[in-house]
Amino acid sequence: MQTAGRPPPATPGTAARAADAPLPRIDRVPATAYIAAMALRDILILPDKRLRQVSEPVKKIDAGIRKLIEDMLETMYDAPGIGLAAIQVGTPKRIITMDLAKKEEPKNPQVFINPEILWTSQEKATNEEGCLSIPEYYSDVERPAQVKVKYLDREGEPREIEANGLLATCLQHEIDHLNGVLFIDHLSKLKRDRVLKKFTKAAKRAAE
Ligand code: NI
Repeated sequence: MQTAGRPPPATPGTAARAADAPLPRIDRVPATAYIAAMALRDILILPDKRLRQVSEPVKKIDAGIRKLIEDMLETMYDAPGIGLAAIQVGTPKRIITMDLAKKEEPKNPQVFINPEILWTSQEKATNEEGCLSIPEYYSDVERPAQVKVKYLDREGEPREIEANGLLATCLQHEIDHLNGVLFIDHLSKLKRDRVLKKFTKAAKRAAE
């Protein structure tokens, strides 16, 4: 959301108000700079080369990183998606946003900064995956069924989680992004080449 088109804040006394008209009871609450600054960011689409970059660790959670996180959450909800890595909006930082809440559940935004996989189970699980950078393409991917991950939360507090099910899949998918790996890399070469070809053609058509 951008500030363009927002009406200027009400300034008492400047409007062409009849002298006997009642004064407005409630002043408009001006948007804070923080809210006004939130913005959707463009999601990079295959075969954009930046998706192959290895992202850098976050050294300090400063205003720029906080804004990036807010924008990533906005962009992810708008897409809509359940997980997003910073590189997908063109910023090579090791940050992931996620929300695995079901439609009827309240929002549950999660942020993982500098996530590292500490352990993966021998047991595997196969789940259908999709990616906001490879729109409308889904395929089964086999990965470890459980993972243990350490990370910093958005306040910079170190945390550790053991995940299974959708959370385990999503964490591995998004951590892959931070290393320049896409879920199609886990498919057969034949399948991967077919997807790549399709998206490369589409990108060429769009550029014409
Ligand atoms: Ni993805």
